[in-house]
Amino acid sequence: MKENDLIVVASSNEGKVKELAKFLNGAAVRVTILPNAEAVLEGVEGEVDYEANAVAKARRAAEVSGNLSLGEDSGLEVDCLRGAPGPLSARFVSPSASPDERNEALLQRLRNVPRDKRTARFVSVVAIAEANGEVHVFRGECEGRIALDAAGEHGFGYDPIFIPQGYDRTFGELGLDIKNKISHRARAMAKVKDYLISNV
Ligand code: IMP
Repeated sequence: MKENDLIVVASSNEGKVKELAKFLNGAAVRVTILPNAEAVLEGVEGEVDYEANAVAKARRAAEVSGNLSLGEDSGLEVDCLRGAPGPLSARFVSPSASPDERNEALLQRLRNVPRDKRTARFVSVVAIAEANGEVHVFRGECEGRIALDAAGEHGFGYDPIFIPQGYDRTFGELGLDIKNKISHRARAMAKVKDYLISNV
């Protein structure tokens, strides 16, 4: 990989871009947010499929910027809901619902489900698009279960109701040091980093 290759992250979420950039520490890349991302990515993320969404975002960013670009799509799959909300996680309940409202609605749906049937996983799919149109896809998963109640202030989204395998506290309680070692995004991004170091 050439020193200081530029990766443009196809997201309008500065927090997400910072988090993704941290996972690429040591890969000799400069990470930047896609300028005017909200407008540029409008209508791109329409599929009920992580990979299609990640690829579409990365491709659009590569087309517009002319640089190596990264798109990510993620979600929470709950087994007793047949994998829902999945790729629709950001819009679960309604597009305007708050994270707390989404978590409460999910806990309500599972109110009669016993602990051993509350299995779930976070999924992250990352696409890297090269300026020549070539695209590579990387997937990371984090197994766990849905808590009985929300707990913890760390992280975002469904973190207060997700207990990763091997722990008995939620990501919201465990904090980012632990989450960033074992999360779906950490696992997908470890593969991205290996790929960038040896191929670009
Ligand atoms: P998108 O990838 O921006 O479409 O959003 C995925 C949605 O999945 C987020 O808005 C969250 O609701 C949920 N999600 C994805 N990753 C995480 C995570 O690490 N913690 C909590 N919620 C997550």
